[in-house]
Amino acid sequence: MGRFDGKVAIVTGAGRGIGAAHAVLLASEGAAVVVNDLGADATGSGADLSPAQQVVEQINAAGGRAVVNGDSVSSWSGAEALISQAVETFGGLDILINNAGILRDRMSFSMTEEEFDAVIDVHLKGHFAPSRFAAAYWREQYKATNEPVNAKIVNTASESGLYANGGQANYAAAKAGIASMTIVMARELERMGIRVNAICPTARTRLTEDLAGEFMAKKEGKPDQFAPENISAVVAWLASDLSTGITGQVMKVMGGNIQVLRGWRPVTESTDEMEWTLDSVDAASAKLFEGVPAGVPKFMPALGEG
Ligand SMILES: NC(=O)c1ccc[n+]([C@@H]2O[C@H](COP(=O)([O-])OP(=O)(O)OC[C@H]3O[C@@H](n4cnc5c(N)ncnc54)[C@H](O)[C@@H]3O)[C@@H](O)[C@H]2O)c1
Repeated sequence: MGRFDGKVAIVTGAGRGIGAAHAVLLASEGAAVVVNDLGADATGSGADLSPAQQVVEQINAAGGRAVVNGDSVSSWSGAEALISQAVETFGGLDILINNAGILRDRMSFSMTEEEFDAVIDVHLKGHFAPSRFAAAYWREQYKATNEPVNAKIVNTASESGLYANGGQANYAAAKAGIASMTIVMARELERMGIRVNAICPTARTRLTEDLAGEFMAKKEGKPDQFAPENISAVVAWLASDLSTGITGQVMKVMGGNIQVLRGWRPVTESTDEMEWTLDSVDAASAKLFEGVPAGVPKFMPALGEG
């Protein structure tokens, strides 16, 4: 018995890296999986279906069920076709894992329009478009049966977005948008029995191998906590009924540490019964910024900090 017996899942960007590990784990637990990947390079250029095909072959060879989908997640019609393929091939859809991603890092003052658009397209639109068509499919089911559909979406945000990495204005904006969109959609879809959560992963893939080096390297005789599979366990938990009741949450996974993250919240306040003027704002500012450290906020807040 697998935890996903009888379930149908889509994993985007599942031809390699973290997405491939998600697809393999879900399939090994009984899910029929649509392995989406257009096979781009790390910057989003090019197309090659063979990585997705290899993942499908691996799943099928192990006795699982999987098919390839080569649509781009950033295409509105491609996203619609992706959802339709799952329904037509496997008879339904229960789980959508949005994972596909690219990087085009550049300091903001040097970034090109193309670099900005490509990253926003693949991440932000590429999370929204499949979610939109999955939600529309589930809403029809809900209307037909009046029963909660028990479906799940798991998105892929990033610490870069939540803690504002320099050199990644495009990527960080997209990932912060994904975290926010996760909560919006969780709110919209809750009454239909659809849960929407997000993760912030850290794993050894082609996106991180140049940056993380030794930090994420596999250490002889030690648990391999930076392998993509280490992330998949959390994603599968969110996609399963083990996490019933959890929705609109963002979980960070780094090595052996898992955190639940929260976003914007007020840290100080000032209230006045008059319209604000430059002078009254200036007078209030002492109270508003009392105890707030000068300069750009710290990169990574400590546990429990505002
Ligand atoms: N690796 C990390 O430590 C890390 C950290 C934070 C966030 N992430 C996020 O995790 C996700 C997976 O990253 P990874 O490290 O496994 O990267 P990866 O490059 O190994 O895999 C990403 C996959 O997405 C596919 N893809 C790109 N554009 C696509 C499109 N338009 N449609 C369909 N597929 C497309 C690529 O072909 C590739 O196979 C990304 O969203 C990434 O931003 C990764």
